[in-house]
Amino acid sequence: MSFGFRAVLNPLAQADQTPLDAAGGSAAAEVLAFHRRLPAYEPTPLLSLPHLASELGVRELLVKVEASRFGLPAFKLLGASWATYRALGIRLAAQTARHPADVLAEWADVHELARLVEPLQPLRLAAATDGNHGRAVARMARWLGFDATVFVPAGTTETRIAGIESEGATVVVVPGSYDDAVARASAEAGERCLVVNDTSGPGDVDVPRWVAEGYGTMFVEVDEALVRAGHGAPGVALVPIGVGALCSAAISHFRRGRHRVHVIGVEPTGAASMTASALAGRPVTVVEPCSIMAGLNCGTPSPVAWPVVSRGASGFVTVDDDWARLAVRTYAACGIEAGETGAAALAGLMALLRQGRATPLSKQVGKDASVLVLATEGASDLVAWRRIVGAQLVG
Ligand SMILES: Cc1ncc(COP(=O)(O)O)c(C=O)c1O
Repeated sequence: MSFGFRAVLNPLAQADQTPLDAAGGSAAAEVLAFHRRLPAYEPTPLLSLPHLASELGVRELLVKVEASRFGLPAFKLLGASWATYRALGIRLAAQTARHPADVLAEWADVHELARLVEPLQPLRLAAATDGNHGRAVARMARWLGFDATVFVPAGTTETRIAGIESEGATVVVVPGSYDDAVARASAEAGERCLVVNDTSGPGDVDVPRWVAEGYGTMFVEVDEALVRAGHGAPGVALVPIGVGALCSAAISHFRRGRHRVHVIGVEPTGAASMTASALAGRPVTVVEPCSIMAGLNCGTPSPVAWPVVSRGASGFVTVDDDWARLAVRTYAACGIEAGETGAAALAGLMALLRQGRATPLSKQVGKDASVLVLATEGASDLVAWRRIVGAQLVG
């Protein structure tokens, strides 16, 4: 068992509330209105876990549970759908010499949207993924009647590949890491292929920016649920980091609010590229990222997310895989299904509060803190989830 962890204050943090928008300015309300027209849209639950909160020594623990989002076991369709939609609008506008805002103005459901984008056929969507994002792009392609090719790094589990294929996509295993899969997917870009990656290659910033913008709906839902409950904003939010798009969305959102919310990024020890970059003062790449937190197994921060996360995150916690296993079991004991990646933020919180009380970062999570944790994924690899939950509770 290895319960190693590290907690660091972000040396690049800018503590004021200056907006740091990953988003290109699109109103969060417009994104939410888009999501509401997609099949089976429903806000995901925001749960309070008082027992775990008192066990960990904080006033309140709120968990945003993304175990089922549009019927998929992760939050990722929020970003994939909005980015695809925006990119299709621009292609269609170019084809018809109209304004992007006009070409996709009139549709009430995904069938009508599919009819509007039909003139773009034959078109294929392509994406790199470690599982969840690619499955989301494949679902979007299926809804709109396009083909999809999804590139996964070597070592992606059979269960995850089967999940992507179940959406009708072709899966290509790329020898190498997530970064290699991103490069391979980017090379597909062309007149008949739209690449929807969640991180950017050279000259390819719009799509990843829209992906992050799409994630904003999750935080709008958190606000709405808290307002309904007559509750203020949390003081701290723990967010898992892969390429950093989700964390950039959290920071962008909370910086628009009146109260300061400390955003703490959580990464696997074996793939802590954002932490390493913040400490180095510039983006750096982790060679051979390696963790069971598959969604966070990324070697390089997204160039679009980096300026936001590097200035907006209060700090970072890195955790060994055993913390993730423990968090999966802890969630299961609370009746919440969360995979290894989905449990990462709780893993970071548990590590910080159980072992990191002497670290300066833990001061931001005192006994009066109201803490928001994102459980970003359900049991998307059911085989792995059962193996972990079935094992004896440790720690
Ligand atoms: C379930 C889950 N949580 C969190 C993340 C991290 O998001 P990002 O790569 O935007 O940092 C991912 C990325 O794939 C994911 O699949």
